[in-house]
Amino acid sequence: MTDLTKLEAELSAAVAAAPDVAALEAVRVAALGKSGSVSELLKTLGAMSPDERRERGPLINGLRDRIAGAIAARKAGLEAGELDAKLAAERVDLTLPPPPERRGRVHPTMQVQDEMIAIFAEMGFGLAEGPDIEDDFHNFTALNFPPKHPAREMHDTFWLPEDENGERKVLRTHTSPVQIRTMLQGQNDKLPSWIATSQAPPIRIVAPGRTYRSDSDATHTPMFHQMEGLVIDRAIHMGHLKWTLETFISRFFETPLVETRFRPHHFPFTEPSAEMDVRCDRSGGDVKIGQGDDWMEIVGCGMVHPNVLRNCGLDPDVWQGFAFGFGIDRLGMLKYGMPDLRDMFASDVRWLEHYGFSAFAAPNPATGLS
Ligand code: DAH
Repeated sequence: MTDLTKLEAELSAAVAAAPDVAALEAVRVAALGKSGSVSELLKTLGAMSPDERRERGPLINGLRDRIAGAIAARKAGLEAGELDAKLAAERVDLTLPPPPERRGRVHPTMQVQDEMIAIFAEMGFGLAEGPDIEDDFHNFTALNFPPKHPAREMHDTFWLPEDENGERKVLRTHTSPVQIRTMLQGQNDKLPSWIATSQAPPIRIVAPGRTYRSDSDATHTPMFHQMEGLVIDRAIHMGHLKWTLETFISRFFETPLVETRFRPHHFPFTEPSAEMDVRCDRSGGDVKIGQGDDWMEIVGCGMVHPNVLRNCGLDPDVWQGFAFGFGIDRLGMLKYGMPDLRDMFASDVRWLEHYGFSAFAAPNPATGLS
């Protein structure tokens, strides 16, 4: 056996025996690397006589080509095997459900707000919005709060520092200013366009949003949510208001049994003003709507005061209307049994896990909408 045949036999055996790509690479370096056994042989060609080179050259080059070919073939085989092994070991089971702790929840206030909007939408109400930072005119004056009247303080208002015009803006204390903005928008289409629904009467809108008062206990937080309602048309009377609120309560609490009573109240922007109570039962710990011997205040409401209509350029002898203001969070606490309003805005993920709603929930039975 010549030295070349012997070397080829050894190298071929080493290539065949390499168990993985790394071991094969070591064989390649030992044979074909800079000072590998085959490379060293190739270097000897330079010092040979032409006759000798003619004879040995093809033999050594042939050896190098065959070894290189064998390494490449073995490499392809090993890589395919390694990939197969990896695929077998790392199989993904696409039927597994995603880990539940990574799913977000819909905040109860937003769930309740959506339910309310859907019910009012079915009754033909559009949606309106106004800014959280209001001016005195929209939050108080146009709503018939007399200047310097203690009613302005009644709301525990958050006042902002005076601006360059000496004006003090407020964080709106209620959503009632959206009534003013909607009616004025109906009169003047050049006003800012963050009012989604703008129209001359007839008007039928609800306006949900954040409201602010400096107050904090189990049923009050400095920020909370209200939903304003406003209907303006010809010949509107309290019967329309009563039907609208009763129909809403029945849909919202998913019960046909709603008994209501209207208690006289005072709001500067309505005349007459009332608070609507619903019959309820508080004996068992949580509140059951529609049964029992108790009453619970649920919404402030009334017929829009003629001064408010005049402040918005509407003639009270032609147009009448009613308005109402719900506490959205409060309605959510009643419907879903949350005891403390402050928890709703504490951003505690465990609370949200417990009281939150799935974003992929089945259609809401109250509204038929998801
Ligand atoms: N703005 C009142 C409040 O925050 C709620 C309210 C009462 C709104 C009567 C109305 C209404 O539209 O007619 O206490």
